[in-house]
Amino acid sequence: MAPDGAPAAPGHAVLCTDLVKVFDASGDPVPAVGPLNATFAAGRTTALVGPSGCGKSTLLRMIAGLERPSAGAIRIGGGTPHDLARRAGLAMAFQDAALLPWRSVRGNVALGLRLARRPADPARVERLIETVGLGGFGDRRPAELSGGMRQRAAIARCLVSAPELLLLDEPFGAVDELTRRRLNRDLPALWQGTTAILVTHSVVEAAMLADRVLVLSPRPATIVAAIDVPLPRPRDEDDSALRERIARIAGALRTSAPGRALAAQ
Ligand SMILES: Nc1ncnc2c1ncn2[C@@H]1O[C@H](COP(=O)(O)OP(=O)(O)OP(=O)(O)O)[C@@H](O)[C@H]1O
Ligand SMILES: [Mg+2]
Repeated sequence: MAPDGAPAAPGHAVLCTDLVKVFDASGDPVPAVGPLNATFAAGRTTALVGPSGCGKSTLLRMIAGLERPSAGAIRIGGGTPHDLARRAGLAMAFQDAALLPWRSVRGNVALGLRLARRPADPARVERLIETVGLGGFGDRRPAELSGGMRQRAAIARCLVSAPELLLLDEPFGAVDELTRRRLNRDLPALWQGTTAILVTHSVVEAAMLADRVLVLSPRPATIVAAIDVPLPRPRDEDDSALRERIARIAGALRTSAPGRALAAQ
């Protein structure tokens, strides 16, 4: 059982082999990913960091089965992304929180259970709403929330079903620093044991949340460094071992994309 009483999701390893994506809609090919080889360990959280436009979202969308690779293969626990989608084992939070505008926060979070074909569980829905700091906003519609609040509702909708694979694309991009710190501290317990892949521009966030951080090259994305973060949770942003990992990730990112401004966070 997960800490909050949800059934523990069996995590699957995600294996990308010689993965390539070239966009070619207008006859002007845009190589976005690869060739990229990576293993995302079962039950672990892997963070992807890399310069803007390098192909992170494209990689995530291919793993989710939303984008077809131009070459290479993705295996998830021995099956394909579509096998996982068919059994509703995947939850994904996009860069722009895609909530249903006519549904309340509560309705959007509960939708996460329906999409995963899980039974209704109002108590768990309320718990998730509280955990992401939206207690008291359950009846509100997305238009009545700030961007950061919408992102948090979208994360609650992902986590409510305890998915087998969790894909998070810059989930805290629109969240203020204090809230982000609190979410970085409190949320990982909710997806413990799940295979999670997180895209972030924040080096601190990558080190706080991930067991392993993959640093990507400028487009087309390839892996230029893999930095393990074998530190116990909950983690402390000011811990010296964590700071050392943060410095290594930032260094690899600078080498990967020299001349680019690096987000301080
Ligand atoms: N549907 C599409 N058609 C054509 N080109 C695309 C499409 N989606 C993405 N691209 C291109 O692929 C490249 C990688 O885009 P992607 O969204 O994966 O980057 P990213 O690393 O997620 O960037 P950011 O950090 O800014 O979100 C970009 O050059 C983008 O213009
Ligand atoms: Mg992106």
